Amino acid sequence: MEKAWWKEAVVYQIYPRSFYDSNGDGIGDLPGVLEKLPYLKELGITVIWLNPVYVSPNKDNGYDISDYYSIMPEFGSLKDFEKLLNAAHDIGIRVIIDLVVNHTSDKHPWFLESKSSKTNDKRNFYIWRDGKEGKEPNNWETWFSQPAWHQTEETDQYYLHLFAKEQPDLNWKNPELRREIYTMMRWWIEKGVDGFRMDVINLLAKPEGLPEAPSENASDYVFAPDLYANQPGIHDYLQEMNREVLHDYDVMTVGETPEVTPEEGLNYTDKDRKELNMIFHFEVVQGLKGKFNLKLFKDIQKRWIETLGNRGWNSQYLSNHDVPRQVSIYGNDGQYREESAKLLATLIHTLPGTPFVYQGEELGMTNVKFPSISDYRDVMTVNYYKKLRSQGMSDSKAMQLIRPWSRDNARTPMQWDDSKNGGFSSGQPWIDMNPNYTEINVQKALSDRNSVFYYYQALIKLRKEIPAIVYGCYKEISVSNELIYCYQRSLDDVEIITAVNFSEKTIIFEDNLLGEKKKLLLCNYKDPKQKGILKPYEARVYVNNNGP
Ligand code: GLC
Ligand code: CA
Repeated sequence: MEKAWWKEAVVYQIYPRSFYDSNGDGIGDLPGVLEKLPYLKELGITVIWLNPVYVSPNKDNGYDISDYYSIMPEFGSLKDFEKLLNAAHDIGIRVIIDLVVNHTSDKHPWFLESKSSKTNDKRNFYIWRDGKEGKEPNNWETWFSQPAWHQTEETDQYYLHLFAKEQPDLNWKNPELRREIYTMMRWWIEKGVDGFRMDVINLLAKPEGLPEAPSENASDYVFAPDLYANQPGIHDYLQEMNREVLHDYDVMTVGETPEVTPEEGLNYTDKDRKELNMIFHFEVVQGLKGKFNLKLFKDIQKRWIETLGNRGWNSQYLSNHDVPRQVSIYGNDGQYREESAKLLATLIHTLPGTPFVYQGEELGMTNVKFPSISDYRDVMTVNYYKKLRSQGMSDSKAMQLIRPWSRDNARTPMQWDDSKNGGFSSGQPWIDMNPNYTEINVQKALSDRNSVFYYYQALIKLRKEIPAIVYGCYKEISVSNELIYCYQRSLDDVEIITAVNFSEKTIIFEDNLLGEKKKLLLCNYKDPKQKGILKPYEARVYVNNNGP
């Protein structure tokens, strides 16, 4: 397999708004990230992904961009960005940024012009249609529980928005728009960024004719992302983007791609097709829907690994700013919080693919339970709550439904210490802290050699030292208990074996089957010497005799 720095990378995702507030206004910022670089260096990660830092009215926390060339004033200035970039590079950390080009903000100058008249030269930067019999052009519903079309006064036509109505979709059919995007991408690369995380990149091409979604009731709006993901034309756009921009630079790309099968995933990442380096597929986060099903998880890994083969490449992630905290939904955030957090980390660092760590995951941060809807900030959560209420559901039932799934679970601020506001901010944080910051925080983790933090550090170090963990062939090892996941990664004559017990029971594990020469490299229990069993959520990584 060909080597590449982005295959060897461990990426750390920063949600700047919630990372560290340097000036006490309650909002995390770029000087805050700069201040915490030594912490990230200590952890050992090699790439930072910054969620959007561009100017934005913040209807969707920065995913509604009104100026692609400037930094959101709350986060700092372009100077602050450059300072952070240079400081990161100085200590060997690369920085990738979010590229959000499926839509802009409705306050973007392009959209202000576009909506002004049917003949404006930016009209075709967006997707406009006449209504149908006094209604929207079709019955699509957005990701945020609203009809996907909005009518404007100026021309009476409707524009398409797959997300909030303040996020009009760009018209990728228009070559002039595409040129603008490529120019912008080159501008950021020339500034020194090391690549892009591409927001919902497989939604750029819309289906011909924008057909109605199948529905039983003609008056319903239907959420049907499969209708507009991976549409004809998408690969042409990505190949063009590669020719026009990426091809000239050594940058990394990771596409966010909902509704993607392994076969389609290979089309996006096949090295010979020259589109993207890797993608985030959604099979784990959607397929497991909050309940860890090890059989399904193993099956997802197997299908993707086999299909991508040596031609494509994958990411490994369980958390990001859109999903709940992994230890709360897949692990056990009570009695076995630390053990299960470490087990999940073992999987994403030793399975094939580039691992992505979301801020706070390395502390085993958990979901939050805010008392009232007014404590929630996320547009998706708030709109969904309103929809449930409008359907007649009680407040308490609606709250019960949204709490475990709200994107705000991941967006409560980073917990630095046990002082006021967890050391995140000296002011009033833009969203409340998870009250457990007094127990779970960086300061505490750094003072405990057995903390989740140091386990992540050890895993990252192993990945750097042992090429088999990055490039090795994957093979599942069958053991008798199906609550165990055991697999091997082999390269030349080095074999790395991972074994985890995904349960709250102590179970029999025939470790003698793994051969006599194996040596334990890492375990999430202090005393792993017991032979023949795995304790609750125990995770082990072994190497054979030929390893380091
Ligand atoms: C992606 C982002 C999410 C955002 C949406 C619209 O899914 O990760 O946070 O709301 O795109 O830009
Ligand atoms: Ca601030």
